[in-house]
Amino acid sequence: KKAENQILVIFGASGDLTHRKLLPALFELYSRDLLPEKFQVIGAARTPQSTDEFRNKQQAFISEVLKISDYSQLSKLADFLQLVNYIDFDTDDAKQYQILKEKIIFLEKEYNIPDNIIYYLATPPAMYDIIPINLQKCGMNVSLSGGSRKIIIEKPFGYDLESAQRLNHLLESTFHESEIFRIDHYLGKETVQNILVLRFSNGIFEPLWNRNYIDSIEIISTETLGVENRGKYYDIVGALRDMVQNHLMQLIAFIAMEPPATFDPESIRDEIAKVFKALHVYSPEERVHNIIRGQYMEGNIDEKKVIGYRREKNVAPNSNTETYIAMKLMIDNWRWGGIPFFIYTGKRLKEKRTEIIIHFKSTPQQFFIGQCSGSSCNQLIIKVQPDESISLKFGLKIPGAGFEVKQVSMDFKYNTLSEEKLPDAYERLLLDAMLGDSTLFSRNDALEASWKFIDPIEEEWKKHPSKDLCYYKAGSTGPTIISNFREQTFRYIRNEC
Ligand code: BG6
Repeated sequence: KKAENQILVIFGASGDLTHRKLLPALFELYSRDLLPEKFQVIGAARTPQSTDEFRNKQQAFISEVLKISDYSQLSKLADFLQLVNYIDFDTDDAKQYQILKEKIIFLEKEYNIPDNIIYYLATPPAMYDIIPINLQKCGMNVSLSGGSRKIIIEKPFGYDLESAQRLNHLLESTFHESEIFRIDHYLGKETVQNILVLRFSNGIFEPLWNRNYIDSIEIISTETLGVENRGKYYDIVGALRDMVQNHLMQLIAFIAMEPPATFDPESIRDEIAKVFKALHVYSPEERVHNIIRGQYMEGNIDEKKVIGYRREKNVAPNSNTETYIAMKLMIDNWRWGGIPFFIYTGKRLKEKRTEIIIHFKSTPQQFFIGQCSGSSCNQLIIKVQPDESISLKFGLKIPGAGFEVKQVSMDFKYNTLSEEKLPDAYERLLLDAMLGDSTLFSRNDALEASWKFIDPIEEEWKKHPSKDLCYYKAGSTGPTIISNFREQTFRYIRNEC
């Protein structure tokens, strides 16, 4: 299905996100003939440059990001870039929005595009308060000719519950909730969407998908990258707000949600919101035993020496910001009561890996020796990235005398499903937003519920900035070996810090 003809305006067009993600994703959509028939992009930012200069820079960026070198692809890229325009103006200043308005009117006339506009805020978060209001002041948040308006907002969506509510309020006073698309790129990942299909298109998993058969769930999302050149942003947010409040909580929601009444955006988002509302908010006492935060020190990644977090650019030399979180979450509802969800995430760790492990309960009696004695042999492992795959582990007898058990694995690898390379998350999400499908975007109530869970933790850390902050060597597996966490040894680990 093709989206309606429209113009996409990208605010923050000279930034990183535009050239690393947005334009490459649009080019991929263009190559697969998925863009609307009549379509134009307007990049808007403060940097003065002509459309030609902008196109030339983007040509270099996109071919580097997508590793394009052959002639036919390069010429396709040049064709795509003809759809891309650039204007510079001060987005702080409402008066200057006239420049954008005129450009839109010009392109609509020139290419016979109806008045359907989608705005993408790829800007620093400080601009989220300003751009929607300025669009409203200039009457650009509504169409007088019956066209559509949409706005896509990048994370961080708020800094805490209060700021998220303020931002929601502001957005809802300028756009209708159905026109607001809060992006979480984890929901654009193929493997993440497949959690829904795995759960709701197969009869064999659902009867087991509850506290009676599941022992615990682990969600691991580790990175080798440090804060790169994002120190200024990261030192304020830390891992809890950067990864947990959004990406990892979305993964939890997909694993834990009830089957929706129907597979439409609102029914799915209703179920996601219910999971967040059921998250157990820890008392200060409980928190001590269930959350560990860490910060990376100097170390080696791929045999290359890297600096510690406190020496990163734009990071305070005495910063207590966490770059690592290990945490046990509980969902207080009938399906999950008493079943722990463990999450681990951090920067500058040994490997880049995002994985969900469902640990099933053991058999009531253990007859055999070998790998499955003493613990369950059954795990369902959903590997989100890299090497996307799903594996089911179980015990089988080793050939020969006796009954010695070995854990074996039934593996499915995504690259056997289709010849095509998996689309980047932004391709799917941009296309969905253009189509007006909000299934994979966060809704305001879910978002606010997630902040209600996060806020008390941040408040506690604010009161005691350095208390219990663990340190770990860059290139290691975190403050202590990850496999220890599931053994409910948080108290023990804490003593190590
Ligand atoms: C971003 C965070 O949202 O997600 C980054 O701000 C993080 O700090 C990134 O590196 C991880 O995304 P991915 O897709 O590489 O797992």
